[in-house]
Amino acid sequence: EEPATLPRDLEGRHVVVSAGGTAEPLDPVRTLGNRSSGRQGYALARVAAQRGAHVTLVAGTTADLEPPAAVDLVAVRTTEEMRRAVVDAAKDADAVVMAAAVADFRPTAVAGFKIKKGDDEPTAIHLTRNPDILAELVTEQVPGRLVVGFAAETGDEDHDVLSYGRAKLARKGCDLLVVNAVGAGGGAHHSAFEGADNEGWLLGSDGSSVQLPMGSKAALAARVWDAVAARLG
Ligand code: CTP
Ligand code: CA
Repeated sequence: EEPATLPRDLEGRHVVVSAGGTAEPLDPVRTLGNRSSGRQGYALARVAAQRGAHVTLVAGTTADLEPPAAVDLVAVRTTEEMRRAVVDAAKDADAVVMAAAVADFRPTAVAGFKIKKGDDEPTAIHLTRNPDILAELVTEQVPGRLVVGFAAETGDEDHDVLSYGRAKLARKGCDLLVVNAVGAGGGAHHSAFEGADNEGWLLGSDGSSVQLPMGSKAALAARVWDAVAARLG
């Protein structure tokens, strides 16, 4: 399905892609994390390299994936590690795509030793809000870079997927937001998280919206880089 010759429209560009989930330690053997496979981020990195970009792929927790050829892969686990790696690589980048599923919260305290079951009822885990890497990139760290976010939305009784997407784009202040429509009820095995295909919209801060048809993660990646290349000029 990929065209025989890809455009070399990212030649000379440095792009940063984050992929996978972040995992926050609870004690030396336990983490709070999520089921992001990293497939969309890896597809973005692979396609960008094929189109001529120098790619830094900041990879959190992922499924067992083959690293794309010809990319600089930086492996991280926690949100703080991802933040440092992304900000560092973004300093001389033309564009940053945050495809990672960043943990919104982390355990407030990390036990120095393995937590024992004991005989008492379990205590609650206290959580602290994580930094918003995407919002920080836009406002403090690398203003002026092209920044792309990803959002998985379901819609509810009051708002549809698109209006949640537009609100998130405005709140984050990024240039482009890929909005994946995921089924209401959010089953643990929905396609956008673990399957092969995505569908949704590509929303621009200029008010543009492009529908992304159901297709492969490589096809979605190609649409994202089309929009990035057009904006980089
Ligand atoms: N993101 C980030 N840092 C965070 C949380 C999210 O950089 N601490 C990025 C994600 O990589 C993604 C975008 O922000 O590109 C949107 O993530 P999402 O979870 O949809 O947005 P939140 O602001 O966390 O809102 P909510 O989870 O409440 O919908
Ligand atoms: Ca979130």
